[in-house]
Amino acid sequence: ETVDLADEDYQLGEFPDFMRKEMAEQPEAVRRALRGRLDSRFATAHLGGLRLDPRDLRAVRRVKFLGCGTAYYAGQIGANLVEELARIPADAEPASEFRYRNPVVDPDTLYVAISQSGETLDTLAAVQELKRKGGKVIGAVNVVGSAVARECGSGVFLHAGPEVSVASTKAFTNMAVSFAMLALWLGRVRDLSAAHGTRLVSALQQLPDQIASILETDYEVAAVARKYAHASHMFFIGRVRGWPVAREGAQKLKEISYVHAEAYQAAELKHGPLALIDAQMPSVVVVPRDELLAKNIGTIEQIKARGGPVIAVTNADLPDGLADAVLRVPRNEPELDPVLLTIPLQMLAYHVASALGRDIDKPRNLAKSVTVE
Ligand code: G6P
Repeated sequence: ETVDLADEDYQLGEFPDFMRKEMAEQPEAVRRALRGRLDSRFATAHLGGLRLDPRDLRAVRRVKFLGCGTAYYAGQIGANLVEELARIPADAEPASEFRYRNPVVDPDTLYVAISQSGETLDTLAAVQELKRKGGKVIGAVNVVGSAVARECGSGVFLHAGPEVSVASTKAFTNMAVSFAMLALWLGRVRDLSAAHGTRLVSALQQLPDQIASILETDYEVAAVARKYAHASHMFFIGRVRGWPVAREGAQKLKEISYVHAEAYQAAELKHGPLALIDAQMPSVVVVPRDELLAKNIGTIEQIKARGGPVIAVTNADLPDGLADAVLRVPRNEPELDPVLLTIPLQMLAYHVASALGRDIDKPRNLAKSVTVE
């Protein structure tokens, strides 16, 4: 099923702005992304539009995700998933950097060009550079018939539906979900066990309801946002699975609220940025309930010891009083934590921006798709 993205009838309805509407649509958007792509029998996923068969998949020695802005951060989630589930080296790079640095194009690498609009010039130029050098590139695109989709020729459509708000929400979520399916598929033609694959298939199926339950915590997130909306600067801290989440959270906050937000890897804090921590500098710390939980609790303690307020976004049971505010998400398979942990950060940015009276759908100086240099 394809959603008609040229749909002129896409309207606000009961919502105050498109960002709010698009956040609310995420459960349905994820359902569309999953539809017909999960295979319980073989504990895998199928992405027919990739036009790759198992032999092609086995030949992939490296995966590189390319995109701009939010799409680039989604690519980082994708790279982590591919490394975890398929044990194939993977990374993400801004498409603009890639296109300008005379990249070495390797025939055994699968390149993934990510774009909601499919019209971002830097992403399109990266695809053209890849094709010129004989690279294998697929698209991860929302808008059917867009320039990136046409140039790639094959790929995965995101099925997020129309996205109008400059700040991307449902497209980001569907990018991450699509990359989870890609990684599952790549993993299952290699060494990922059927048992692990089965757990991931059912974990993916749970996502829409879990996202809906996070959206129901809107009142609590709004209260936290109002409490910290006066801050001039905020840190967003994460490590490994939490790192792209922190980057996307910082991006959402700065683009729609104009509050200066900086994302940092947790362990790098002590190499400089800790000097900035004081009572005026809140930190949003992303705390997945995974093998790094104790490390992340240590990070929160370090920030608290220096008088910094902490907002934790987590699916773990943190010690009472550890953080000043806690935004909770449900538990799922740890590999999918980034998908769920990002949702409260979208909501936080939204409510900070609305507390500050910003024009949420049309932030100053920004465009929905950047089709110029
Ligand atoms: C612009 C938008 C961002 C978006 C980026 C990439 O900068 O303001 O929200 O993430 O472009 O857009 P794309 O359509 O390629 O995903």
